[in-house]
Amino acid sequence: MEQIRRLWEKETLRVIGLMSGTSADGMDAALVEISGFGLRTKVKTLGFVSLPYPEAVRQEILRLCAGDQGGSRDLCLFSFLLGRLSLDACKAVCAQAGVPWEKTDLVGSHGQTLYHIPAPVSYLGHTVTATLQLGEASVIAEGLHCPVVSDFRVRDMAAGGQGAPLVPYAEYLLYRREDQTVGLQNIGGIGNLTVLPRGGRPEDTFAFDTGPGNMVMDAVAEKISGGKLRCDLNGEIAAKGRCAPALLSWMLQDPYLSKKPPKTTGREAYGKPYVDAMMAKAREMGLLGPDILRTATQFTAECIRIAVERFCPARPDYLVVGGGGGRNPTLLSCLRSALPMPIKRNEDLGFDSDAKEAVAFAVLANECVHGSANNMPSVTGARHPVVMGKISLG
Ligand SMILES: Nc1ncnc2c1ncn2[C@@H]1O[C@H](COP(=O)(O)OP(=O)(O)O)[C@@H](O)[C@H]1O
Ligand SMILES: [Mg+2]
Repeated sequence: MEQIRRLWEKETLRVIGLMSGTSADGMDAALVEISGFGLRTKVKTLGFVSLPYPEAVRQEILRLCAGDQGGSRDLCLFSFLLGRLSLDACKAVCAQAGVPWEKTDLVGSHGQTLYHIPAPVSYLGHTVTATLQLGEASVIAEGLHCPVVSDFRVRDMAAGGQGAPLVPYAEYLLYRREDQTVGLQNIGGIGNLTVLPRGGRPEDTFAFDTGPGNMVMDAVAEKISGGKLRCDLNGEIAAKGRCAPALLSWMLQDPYLSKKPPKTTGREAYGKPYVDAMMAKAREMGLLGPDILRTATQFTAECIRIAVERFCPARPDYLVVGGGGGRNPTLLSCLRSALPMPIKRNEDLGFDSDAKEAVAFAVLANECVHGSANNMPSVTGARHPVVMGKISLG
């Protein structure tokens, strides 16, 4: 425990946050300097990299996420491989920031979610919720010689929570304002909304998944390009299409949209089977590729509109868009016409859209090593605050 005590004595810590999201596009690493913890936390970002996965790795993640593909041997190998890719990302972000990796004090690693079951299912005569994030932390600790905090979600779930969303804790520390209600809309594979009411306490924060973010658009882009595209780059294809009202209203019947928060969703709901069904519907209606993609883009914006209109007890004064979806101008323009409030990007507030989630895991790790509760029961539904994360000493 000497290693952890040493962290307490330092004025500022150099922390790397690692995140690999549901898009399975790559491993994100943010290098930050953190001082204090809890409400006194101050964060300065020193560097950020996103190491794209080789196509074979991305395909393997998507395969393992299906739930019924790949056995324990594959999971075992994948976890250690992702540990190595995580270590590569740590060294890459240090190199980018021009600081020696040996000076890293701490790592917070989310890993890759392979499966997430927030709503209880019946299993072997029991009712169970569960979640699985892989990316062996020991491999990172061995390579960087510093403590690594990993596997955050499971503890919140053990306390009756949904194990998600976890980023709002860090958002509260970094974005809250006394004079305005701030809405933070992340558009990764899934869309997540966090609202920080004006002058609110941590427990006033509310957050939930709005529905698919880029996930459905990405899959449609891949399908209509015959596998050539991973996403609708800069929204160019959707910009050429027109929204098809019949398909959109079929999509809007989705029961997730009318479910009350706390709620979270993932690839289990909007992966291959969903997109196959949606594409079948679109073909039945005789729609062309760009129109299908435009409709999927509009759908993501509609999911966000519904979330803001129906489930926000405090209306945000402005919405800050983050995540890869913020780079899609067609999506942003759908969002601007769907919602009355100003839509900003993280960059407008001096933050980095891409680094945001990785930074959050650096912050959560810093809380963990200080023994400070880092879940938000008001958003995850947990019975009480808990310290999430498992520590692998360096
Ligand atoms: N220039 C771009 N144009 C359109 N979409 C983009 C662009 N850049 C990133 N994206 C989208 O962002 C996604 C990655 O976003 P990210 O925030 O990393 O999600 P996750 O957290 O799920 O990994 C990509 O899959 C893609 O859909
Ligand atoms: Mg990503």
